[in-house]
Amino acid sequence: MMRGMPEQSSPPSDGGASRRGFLKTATVLIGGAIGAVLAIPIVRFVAYPVGRKVVRSAGEPIDAMAASALTPGAPPVRVELVAKNVRDAWTVASDVTVGAAWVSKTKDGKVVALSSVCPHLGCAVAFNADKKAFKCPCHKSEFDAGGKRLAGPAKRGLDPLPVEVKNGRVLITQVRYRTDTPDREPV
Ligand code: FES
Repeated sequence: MMRGMPEQSSPPSDGGASRRGFLKTATVLIGGAIGAVLAIPIVRFVAYPVGRKVVRSAGEPIDAMAASALTPGAPPVRVELVAKNVRDAWTVASDVTVGAAWVSKTKDGKVVALSSVCPHLGCAVAFNADKKAFKCPCHKSEFDAGGKRLAGPAKRGLDPLPVEVKNGRVLITQVRYRTDTPDREPV
């Protein structure tokens, strides 16, 4: 180089340009991947409990009582239906009372369970042993011992619940039905 002449920087080579391009692309890709990984728990947190099964009552048979406690032809007995585990969107609770049933054994030995919920507007019915009938205290609906509607504003009889006897135990499945309708619609 001649003395007094300004120094000139050499133009970047093609290799340097492509290396810078590669680094830029790699930085964007790695940054995007890290962002996506970090976003997963945030999306999960915001979306929770979407997609999770929500259980409002025990859908499984509940061990209600010993079958030997029922006498054929005797008045129905009231039993609480206590679910071992009930899960809602956020929590799991143990030993939850999900309802009650009136259980009886017919003279020919068939075990019957009726929901204790009045199908009019949902009050709890009671059995009157003298009259051999269920009565609702709220608006005076009445039902015979088999659950058939006798009087009052209820539009249908008491709701039978699925029941089975297994290993000497009475297993009842709690089902809730829409009230004030002539047909039984599970809710
Ligand atoms: Fe039973 Fe109305 S709730 S008669």
